[in-house]
Amino acid sequence: MKKLTLFFLCSFLALYADNLIKPIPNDFTTVTDKVMLGKKLFLDPRLSQDNSISCASCHDLNYGGADSVAFSFGVNGQTGIINSPTVFNAVYNIAQFWDGRAKGLKEQVISPITNHIEMASNEKEIISKLLKDPYYVKKFHKLYKDGITLENISDAIAAFEQRLITPNARFDLFLKGNTAALSTDEKDGYALFKNLGCISCHNGVNIGSNMFQKFGVFTEHNASDTNLGRYNVTHNERDKYYFKVPTLRNIEKTAPYFHDGSAATLEDAVKKMGYYQLGQKLSDEEVRKLTQFLKTLNGDTPNIVFKEEQ
Ligand code: HEC
Ligand code: HEC
Repeated sequence: MKKLTLFFLCSFLALYADNLIKPIPNDFTTVTDKVMLGKKLFLDPRLSQDNSISCASCHDLNYGGADSVAFSFGVNGQTGIINSPTVFNAVYNIAQFWDGRAKGLKEQVISPITNHIEMASNEKEIISKLLKDPYYVKKFHKLYKDGITLENISDAIAAFEQRLITPNARFDLFLKGNTAALSTDEKDGYALFKNLGCISCHNGVNIGSNMFQKFGVFTEHNASDTNLGRYNVTHNERDKYYFKVPTLRNIEKTAPYFHDGSAATLEDAVKKMGYYQLGQKLSDEEVRKLTQFLKTLNGDTPNIVFKEEQ
C-alpha cells in the first residue's frame, strides 16, 4: 500500500517537478559584529573540555561543512556514533539532527558542547575560560546585556551559521534560466532524478531537509541498526528508522554518506537509494548520470568563511 502511494506520489510529482526545487537566495551579505563573534566561537577549541576540538573540527568550513570520516572524533580520540551532517545551509532545515531533535540552530548548539563524546564541556567551564579572554569580554558586553552566557554563546553561533549558505551552484543558475549551465549528461541526470522519484523526497531549497522519511522504504536497510531515528523523538512505532532526508547540496564534498556512514562514495549512495528507497536496480549509466547531476549542486563557499574581523 505504502509502495503504491509512493508510486502515485512520484508520478504526480514528476509532472510538477520543475517547481519543486528552488535556488538558494543570494541575499545574506550583511556581516554584523554578532556574526563575527559567532564565527570566532565556532572555530574556538576552548569550547571543548581539553581545548582540542572546535565545532569546525567536525564541520570543516573550507570543505563541505562536514568531515570526511563515517564517525567524527571528539575529545580524547573518542569516536561518535552517527555521521556528521553539513552545517552549510542548515538554516533551511526543517529541524536539526538526523532525528530532528533540535528545532532550530540556537537550540542545537548546546548539544555538541556538552555531549561527552564530542566536546565534553559544560557551561561553567566554558564561561570561566572565555572570561579570561578580553576579546570575548568586550564583545559579549557590547552585544548582550548579560554578557557571556551559554544562551548568548548559542545565539552568536546560530547567527554565524545563518550565513553559511552556498549560493550559485550550477544547478541554481540552470533553474534561474541559464540552460547552458548544465551539460547534456547533467541534464539527463536531472531528468532521471525527477522521473525515478528522487525528487519526491529530496526537494525544496535544500534539495532535502524538509521532511522525515524511512531509510529502507522497499527493502529493510539494516535490521541491526541501533539508531531508530525519528522514533527517538516521537516514540511513535511508525517513526522507526525514519531520518531527516538530508540535503543534497554540496553532496560531492561530504562523503561518506548516510547516517551510519555506510556508503563510501556518491555512486554507492545513489545506487543504494535506488534500491532501498525506490525498489529499483539502477543501471551503471543511470548511476553515472545521477551522480553527474548531483555534482552540479556544489555552491560557492559561504562568503563569511573568508571574512576577517576588521
Ligand atoms: C565531534 C564532532 C562534532 C563536533 C565537535 C560538533 N559537531 Fe555538529 N554534528 C556532529 C554530528 C555527529 C552531528 C549529527 C548528530 C545527530 O544527528 O544525532 C552534528 C550535527 C550538527 C548540526 C545539525 C545539522 C543537520 O543537518 O541536522 C549542526 C547545525 C551542528 N552540528 C553544528 C555544530 C556546532 C555549532 C558545533 C560547535 C558548538 C558542533 N556542531 C560541534 C558532529 C560534531
Ligand atoms: C522515500 C524518500 C527518498 C527517496 C525516494 C530518495 N531518497 Fe535519498 N535519502 C532519503 C533519506 C531518508 C536519506 C538518509 C538515509 C539515512 O542515512 O538514514 C537519503 C540519503 C541520500 C543520500 C546521502 C546523503 C548524505 O548526506 O548522507 C544521497 C546522495 C541520496 N539520498 C540521493 C538520492 C537519489 C539520487 C535518489 C533517487 C535515485 C534518492 N536519494 C531517493 C530519502 C529518499
